[in-house]
Amino acid sequence: MDHSIIEKSTPLLVLLTLVAVSIGGLVQIVPLFQIESTIEKVEGVRPYSPLELVGRNIYIREGCYTCHSQMVRPFRDEVERYGHYSLAAESMYDHPFQWGSKRTGPDLARIGGKYSNDWHVAHLIDPRSVLPHSIMPAYGFLLDKELGQTDIDQHLATLRIVGVPYSDEMIAAAQADLTIQALVDADTDDLLARYPKAVTGDFDGQPSKLTEMDALIAYLQMLGTLVDFTNYDTSDLVQ
Ligand code: HEC
Repeated sequence: MDHSIIEKSTPLLVLLTLVAVSIGGLVQIVPLFQIESTIEKVEGVRPYSPLELVGRNIYIREGCYTCHSQMVRPFRDEVERYGHYSLAAESMYDHPFQWGSKRTGPDLARIGGKYSNDWHVAHLIDPRSVLPHSIMPAYGFLLDKELGQTDIDQHLATLRIVGVPYSDEMIAAAQADLTIQALVDADTDDLLARYPKAVTGDFDGQPSKLTEMDALIAYLQMLGTLVDFTNYDTSDLVQ
């Protein structure tokens, strides 16, 4: 058929364009329905422990994400500053994810283990005490907000509805795990079996109190620590 016939008839051109776009769309979209997940599973990634989850909820409540991103992009400057670029799997259990859209402060995706708990407490009480020119707000009041009986088991149960693999056992033990993670000298075997690599012990410098500060620091100390990157190659980086 002479192509000029199509080009001279608008309805025909629109119709055939739609047909072409539909075929292209279907070819891209239909295979996605066949696979269970578009995220490649990565060893080490696990759901948040109850204490980390409470900390994460505080992180969201206090709007930390308005100044901090949690996504290291695959560029050499970022990888040299923050560490291995973020993998999709690392935020597969995040509802909502905390990639952020603005960096007034540094990226926090790999902050876990970078500083001591004491440093975090001092920094959160008064950021200017450790970095004189910091413009970060102070969050010292978190030291006084004690965590008593929480509704954390319901948070776990709710996250399970959207696909986070919390077991019945994890939900039943949630309140106990929350307390145990921040205790000094507690028996943490069961907790660590459920949540490998969870950082345990007192976080806020007040061993007798379980506070929102404990929870927030427990969360910060695990960020970016779950995947072992020693065997990952970053030589494919975008320059
Ligand atoms: C108004 C913006 C702002 C908000 C809100 C904010 N920060 Fe910051 N944050 C900064 C800036 C700027 C820095 C860099 C200077 C410093 O370390 O204080 C920073 C640094 C940090 C660091 C050290 C990062 C590093 O690699 O050295 C941590 C950890 C941190 N913030 C955690 C938090 C947490 C947790 C919250 C919420 C409770 C929060 N920030 C809220 C601006 C902010």
